Amino acid sequence: MRQMSPVLFLTFTLLAFNAGCVLPGIAEGGSWGQKVWATAGSSAVLPCHLSPRKIWKSWKQLPDKTSVLWKRHGKSAHQEPHVVLEVGYSGLQKTALPMRPRVSIQASASRNGNFSLRIDPVRSEDAGLYEARVAYSVGAHSCQVELGVVTVTLSPPSPVVENEPLLLSCNSSHRASLLETRWFHNGHPVPTSGTFFSLHGALSIPRPAMSDAGSWCCQLRYSDNLVISATYNLQILGFDGPANPVVYAAAGSAADLPCTLSYLPSAFGIKVVTAHWSRLAGGHLQDWDIPQNSSGRSFPLHLHTVGPGDAGQYRCAISVGSKTIKRDVTLAVITVTPSIQGPVSEGSRLLLICSLTHPRGHERFQWKHLDSTPTKSKLVVATSHNLESHGSQMSPTLEIPQVSGKDTGTWECSVYGPEGSLGAAEYRLQITGAQVSSPPAIFSGQVTFGLTLVLFLLLAVCVLALALQKRARRPAFPALEGMVAVTVPKKEVEENQKEKIQQDEC
Ligand SMILES: *[C@@H]1O[C@H](CO)[C@@H](O)[C@H](O)[C@H]1NC(C)=O
Ligand SMILES: *[C@@H]1O[C@H](CO)[C@@H](O)[C@H](O)[C@H]1NC(C)=O
Ligand SMILES: *[C@@H]1O[C@H](CO)[C@@H](O)[C@H](O)[C@H]1NC(C)=O
Repeated sequence: MRQMSPVLFLTFTLLAFNAGCVLPGIAEGGSWGQKVWATAGSSAVLPCHLSPRKIWKSWKQLPDKTSVLWKRHGKSAHQEPHVVLEVGYSGLQKTALPMRPRVSIQASASRNGNFSLRIDPVRSEDAGLYEARVAYSVGAHSCQVELGVVTVTLSPPSPVVENEPLLLSCNSSHRASLLETRWFHNGHPVPTSGTFFSLHGALSIPRPAMSDAGSWCCQLRYSDNLVISATYNLQILGFDGPANPVVYAAAGSAADLPCTLSYLPSAFGIKVVTAHWSRLAGGHLQDWDIPQNSSGRSFPLHLHTVGPGDAGQYRCAISVGSKTIKRDVTLAVITVTPSIQGPVSEGSRLLLICSLTHPRGHERFQWKHLDSTPTKSKLVVATSHNLESHGSQMSPTLEIPQVSGKDTGTWECSVYGPEGSLGAAEYRLQITGAQVSSPPAIFSGQVTFGLTLVLFLLLAVCVLALALQKRARRPAFPALEGMVAVTVPKKEVEENQKEKIQQDEC
């Protein structure tokens, strides 16, 4: 302990900064060497370093003649110490069976003098007294380390799922009597009254929610003033998104009901996952089975076309291992019902009723006329005069007292909640006798076309007349005249254009 290595010191400092939840690092273990604390499930390093001076001295003489033997003392005095790990002079490593895959020392130990024993992962039964004996060419060195283990126990064991009561408890291998257990969640002390009541030091979470995930730390205070802490990173398998989602869909459109797990089941070591959708409609149960492999976490239900009859409660049940978690999803359907079925004749009074199944009471409705001409496809808010006299445009019912040609096209009813737009449904207004109601457009088009034709014909006649005139004059140099006639005006035009451009630039 006199030569505390920088790395060990760093480990100690890092632990000290862990959200007020300090796991004692390495302490003087009284008569028995050092004491190391570790949390069950994580790793522990039992330090044993040889003074560099001693190694250098021995290296000059016989660098390879180093051996190390790690032993564990029996739990009671009459139990014989047993070998944990041995590295002979030849470099051959031997590990005893109970801890074989979990213990190691650095391969370069005999060169850098680091004979520390690493245990990964630590189990609660590993707590006890350990001793290392390092023999080198000119002497021997021994290290005594006591390993203390803190255990955080989950009941029922992992995976922890949403809404299933959970009990977290903490204990340690320390022999003194436990005076108090305190809990911290993400660094904040947990009050012992309220939701998380502490029962004999254990922490109870009656209905775990996603917000209960994160780091939980227990702090154990003993009669000899020792305080030991352990941190557990709690992951809760639940669903993404709000607790009671409502999906809004227009009648006649498709809908996807979400069912997404908060984590990949494989992250919890769960191999088999089945998703099951059901519906509570008129007392009988309809079932859908969705085949999914365990690498996904999303199990949506796709409905190709929804009608008002499809609205209602749906339930997604996901079986993860031996547990099942459920989420209810509400499908609300938006429908536009016209007072007149089929095409509407001009001049008639039309009511469009926008309705929503499963309203929650705070929805707002807005009507818009989507302009039918593609060049003016922007939304036109239905504030035309024929609506003003009939109250608020947020009303779910739209009244068109006298249907006219400009009302054709798509009418959209949008539903808004406090969180924003929820969905929209459309109605296509078709008017009978559309030829009668919209002749002006066609008429004006015909007039334009006719005028163009007349002008074109006049121009053709002029050109023809000029050509005939020229042919009658018979010029002496037809080629030259042709050149003059063609080139000169072109140059003039070009020069004019250049001037114009320059002027524009100035
Ligand atoms: C000594 O070796 C252990 C593993 O056996 C390692 O965790 C530790 O960081 C090493 N210490 C130093 C100072 O290199
Ligand atoms: C702590 O609790 C765990 C689980 O109940 C148990 O396996 C372990 O032996 C206990 N450790 C001590 C030191 O009592
Ligand atoms: C599991 O599904 C994912 C996508 O959902 C796919 O990429 C992957 O190949 C599938 N794995 C198996 C084993 O079928």
